[in-house]
Amino acid sequence: MTKALEGVRILDFTHVQSGPTCTQLLAWFGADVIKVEKTGEGDATRGQLRDIQDADSLYFTMLNHNKRSITLDTKKPSGKQVLETLIKQCDVMVENFAPGALDRMGFTWERIQELNPKMIVASVKGFGPGPYEDCKVYENVAQCTGGAASTTGFDDGPPMVTGAQIGDSGTGLHLALGIVTALYQREKTGRGQKVLAAMQDAVLNLCRVKLRDQQRLERTGVMEEYPQFTEGKSFGAAVPRAGNASGGGQPGWTLKCKGWQTDPNAYIYFIAQAPVWGSICKVIGREEWITDPDYATPRARLPRLMEIFATVEEWTKTKTKFEVMDILNEYDIPCGPILSMKEIAEEPSLRETGTIVEVDHPVRGKYLTVGNPIKLSDSATEVTRSPLLGEHTDEVLAQLGYSAEAIAALREERVI
Ligand code: COA
Repeated sequence: MTKALEGVRILDFTHVQSGPTCTQLLAWFGADVIKVEKTGEGDATRGQLRDIQDADSLYFTMLNHNKRSITLDTKKPSGKQVLETLIKQCDVMVENFAPGALDRMGFTWERIQELNPKMIVASVKGFGPGPYEDCKVYENVAQCTGGAASTTGFDDGPPMVTGAQIGDSGTGLHLALGIVTALYQREKTGRGQKVLAAMQDAVLNLCRVKLRDQQRLERTGVMEEYPQFTEGKSFGAAVPRAGNASGGGQPGWTLKCKGWQTDPNAYIYFIAQAPVWGSICKVIGREEWITDPDYATPRARLPRLMEIFATVEEWTKTKTKFEVMDILNEYDIPCGPILSMKEIAEEPSLRETGTIVEVDHPVRGKYLTVGNPIKLSDSATEVTRSPLLGEHTDEVLAQLGYSAEAIAALREERVI
């Protein structure tokens, strides 16, 4: 079976998380991804958060599957020459260096265009053009500047960041879409182009509903599905933190289940979806709410939501989260157990679909990773281990046309 991106060659000049997320996806879709790493040290994440001495960290291995690794000192003249050869022979360069680093290295957009006018140059930066464009950015900075932190957490607590890496991996996903779109356009124009995904923009895109709410708040002064409304609190000028309230038109909350006193994840997310209100009332033994005008309509329920959730919780606390899920699903009542990472890692259905994959690594042995979350029916993903530092340097240079002697000379000079 062919792969969707077979024949596309990527010069992967990425490091840490955001860029590698993007190029890993492209590799899973069949692109030949050549990761260019600093000679001697490689991507800094190889050594970060190590759980096994001298083995590439899970941080690195889980973001760099299906790639080839070459080492190259791109600040030395002969290293620059190798990079130029790579630029001439690749379709896409992906980079997420600090702003200006590529220019300082001598590889401006104009220079890259001279070398290969078809080259697509894709970048992750912290910010787009503007007052902060020169700033270095990591995950949580993006969550804070993209609107996620100010809208996450509880009303009476500080802003919160989320465990989902929406700044890094979220931006990598955005960049991947930009790249395949630019490749598609190149089919018609024959030209490359620059692709930029700024982390602030990507986070804001994922926080779109909160900008919606900001404008609703400014127009009406109130948002009835927010817990502040139910609790009779006043709204300020900006979208407040909504705790675990549902972001959509159907109210929801996290409810305790059996065992919550000792298990921090014995909770279920419960949605009081309007079409199944009658079923909800029957399941929890409050059939009188079906016709009671104080509860019968979504509008009547809005000021009573926290009381309703507390009543449903009295019922959920008598059952495990999985029992609650089974019972509510029988009635088509939307809900979801709070799954711990341990439970997710052990979930057989995720193994069967390839969303969780066990990979064997020559130094660290077997480990679990998240496989390709995007499934194509005609381009299957086989997850292969991440490369060792410089594992493919000779192979790639030979493919680029370098003789064994030339490769030996570059090694002697410590360029590779
Ligand atoms: N050979 C020689 N030098 C190399 C090289 C190579 N193969 N690869 C990179 N370098 C150099 C760069 O040219 C740069 O040199 P310069 O500072 O002299 O111009 C240097 O290595 C460091 O790169 P930089 O990107 O500044 O790394 P950093 O560790 O200081 O900063 C980030 C890390 C993530 C903060 C920064 O890269 C950044 O803001 N990136 C954009 C946003 C982003 O992706 N953030 C999310 C990270 S998950």
